[in-house]
Amino acid sequence: MTATNGSDPLLAVRDLSVDFGTEDGVVHAVRNVSFSLDAGEVLGVVGESGSGKSVSSMAIMGLLPKTAEVTGSIRFRGEELVGLSFREMRPFRGNGISMIFQDPMTSLNPVFTVGWQLAEAYRAHHEVSKRVALAKAVDILELVGIPQPDRRAAQYPHEFSGGMRQRAMIAMSIINDPDVIIADEPTTALDVTVQAQILETLLRIRSETGAAIIIITHDLGVVAGMVDRVQVMYGGTVVESGTVDDVFETPRMPYTVGLLGSMPNPELLGKRLTPITGAPPSLMNLPNGCTFNPRCPLVAAECHESEPELSATGQEAHLTRCHRWIELTQVPDPRTLFTHTEIGADEDPDQSAQQHQAVGSNQTVADAEENPVA
Ligand SMILES: Nc1ncnc2c1ncn2[C@@H]1O[C@H](COP(=O)(O)OP(=O)(O)OP(=O)(O)O)[C@@H](O)[C@H]1O
Ligand code: SF4
Ligand SMILES: [Mg+2]
Repeated sequence: MTATNGSDPLLAVRDLSVDFGTEDGVVHAVRNVSFSLDAGEVLGVVGESGSGKSVSSMAIMGLLPKTAEVTGSIRFRGEELVGLSFREMRPFRGNGISMIFQDPMTSLNPVFTVGWQLAEAYRAHHEVSKRVALAKAVDILELVGIPQPDRRAAQYPHEFSGGMRQRAMIAMSIINDPDVIIADEPTTALDVTVQAQILETLLRIRSETGAAIIIITHDLGVVAGMVDRVQVMYGGTVVESGTVDDVFETPRMPYTVGLLGSMPNPELLGKRLTPITGAPPSLMNLPNGCTFNPRCPLVAAECHESEPELSATGQEAHLTRCHRWIELTQVPDPRTLFTHTEIGADEDPDQSAQQHQAVGSNQTVADAEENPVA
């Protein structure tokens, strides 16, 4: 792809909003999301189920259904993507921005071999023979760590294990050398070892191709281990963003404190996590003021009056959407805002630790509330 125009970031999202008109009313799925991404950067996006992570990514890819009303701006290398038709987006999709979806089986076609699908994806952007495209497919399978790539290229998706299918998806997303890879929960269905291998593969691709990566995950451990910057989403919008160190060590938004409290923590060994009490807001009937106010332990009158802007804290590039972030800094141990229950003497701490892991990686806080880990 061409070089970035002047000082434009690679990807600049400004005031992105997505509404869905439904029979029951308008769903405000994404509200005023702004962020930018530079080449080679890895951005983590975290938040409970339904917070708008996938819808904002699909908006960037131009893959939302016609019922979606998208407003705001998405500039890729200085070019505006909002308002482009599905067809007009085609040159950007794949070699500009590509996406690894939550479920590989939805994007790998069961009736074609993996190699054929990769080759066709390559031919969509390059005028080369089938033989050349297939050779490229085999190279890419090798790059993502698939052993015996020439034999594997001739196989169908169902002949691959879950981890191999995920690698094939990564291969599909990088075959046209994209500048931005959006990985939407690429590892949740995989066991922990395979998850780690997949994430390592993504990081290796970043260092080999210089692609920027947006990784969407429920797993704060993934975020801590691999991203440069993190963005926390709640109620369809960004409520905190900054470097991993700033956000994890000095969170400036009570919701982030609650999320971090639901992360397995060595200091809390022998205690089990308690997810944040209450449910995420209805995106059809958002509460007045701060959308976290029904669940927030620091709530005050002003929190019901207006929704806070995403604004600067004392640390550079560390932003929060909270009226009372300064009061939060005065709480001696913010984790105590969200209580943790001790494990009973009859419980097995090892087993409990594994359950913490499950909530961190596969379950959302909301899921955990519905199905509390006993
Ligand atoms: N086509 C649609 N019509 C109406 N509402 C939709 C549509 N697609 C998504 N939504 C709603 O938009 C909201 C945000 O969904 P989104 O898929 O972005 O959540 P998410 O943060 O990715 O959650 P998860 O972690 O479960 O993947 C949800 O309330 C969802 O029900
Ligand atoms: S604005 Fe108020 S309700 Fe919202 S997170 Fe901050 S303190 Fe809590
Ligand atoms: Mg999602």
